[in-house]
Amino acid sequence: MREDFVIKGDICFSLSANELITREDSFLVCADGKVAGVFDKLPERFEHLKLYDYSGKLVIPGMSDLHVHASQYAYRGLGMDLELLDWLNTITFPHEARYEDVDFAKKAYGIFVDDMLKSETTRACIFATVHVPATIALMDLFEKTGLKTYVGKVNMDRNCADCLRETSAGSAEDTRQWIEAVNGRYENVRPIITPRFIPSCTDGLMRELSDIRARYDLPVQSHLSENLSEIEWVRELCPWSESYPDAYLKFGMLGGDTRTVMAHCVHVNDEETDLLAERGVYVAHSPQSNENLRSGVAPIKKMLKRGVKVGLATDVAGGSSLSMFRAVTDAIQCSKLRWRLSDDSFPALSMDEAFFLATKGSGEFFGKVGSFEEGYEFDAVVLDDSMLKTVIDLSLRQRLERVLYLSNGRGIEAKFVSGTKVL
Ligand code: GUN
Ligand code: FE
Repeated sequence: MREDFVIKGDICFSLSANELITREDSFLVCADGKVAGVFDKLPERFEHLKLYDYSGKLVIPGMSDLHVHASQYAYRGLGMDLELLDWLNTITFPHEARYEDVDFAKKAYGIFVDDMLKSETTRACIFATVHVPATIALMDLFEKTGLKTYVGKVNMDRNCADCLRETSAGSAEDTRQWIEAVNGRYENVRPIITPRFIPSCTDGLMRELSDIRARYDLPVQSHLSENLSEIEWVRELCPWSESYPDAYLKFGMLGGDTRTVMAHCVHVNDEETDLLAERGVYVAHSPQSNENLRSGVAPIKKMLKRGVKVGLATDVAGGSSLSMFRAVTDAIQCSKLRWRLSDDSFPALSMDEAFFLATKGSGEFFGKVGSFEEGYEFDAVVLDDSMLKTVIDLSLRQRLERVLYLSNGRGIEAKFVSGTKVL
């Protein structure tokens, strides 16, 4: 059994998109890996527990990165003048082919995993590559960190360079063998079915993956409606579908009984937005990636209004930064440009809303995650903001806002996942 304990500090968490709770000099209790409550004065029944005294420091829920490519961390910041489909062909695919070499993969993944451990992220949905041995190496590395992750072996049997393209039968068979090898083997890492996106998977492979998914009852991650040329391409590839999301739906990979996270959804009309809401699909909003690849700005405020589940993501290396704080501030800034330049029918995201999306919004994909309400998984990050020197007095809310905008990877003092101290 894990040890129960108490953290003392300046505590911030969201109840909902518009309810940010800030409690200075308070106590956060962890019992059996879950939050037992936040208290101004520590109740007597918890006084015997071990106390981590982080007085004067911020304590926030861990952030969940809902969409990130581990293999792309090695070449983030490259090819950022290209749009999606050119970037995939000229930068992404040739680099991803290198993960056939497991020694290369272990080195590259080691750097990624180490950097994520030191970041504000406690959970993530991760794309590996098509290669099974390298994907298992990545899962082994993550298991040791204590971070909670879904890791996917990518599937691609069309429209990519020969060095990366799988045969249809080989892709399905490798996926089966990979799941058999990893399913239930880890405490912290789970497999997730990962068709890269419709353009890179034939209809036959999508049907096979859907069967495998159902057989092992696994979640799904993919990309949806990121770029206008991509959407047009899917229209040509799937003339039998009513829309891009409908193509996933027809393959049984759009929510409902299939827990699904779809990256981007930048270009979705009202009908498609309602379909995402109806199916309970998690949208992984990746604002920095959408800027870098000139994809556009997803209508996040509209999605929230229409009941879509939204979380935030870095989408490294479409996004060049692994920081979820950066994802929070980019989401806010992009939404302001959207409001000013293209659609003023929905206001910009507020700080409270964006902080919620990165914590409780993303966290919901993993269960009761991303808040300090009683019964939530005890995922917490302790932040020392003393390096953000100032002569003015700040409220706790203002300190949080400054950490999000200014801390830039600094000041992360401790990190807990499901009640285990991982940093
Ligand atoms: N769509 C298909 N593959 C990718 C990828 O690797 N990154 C991004 N941003 N979009 C994609
Ligand atoms: Fe992506």
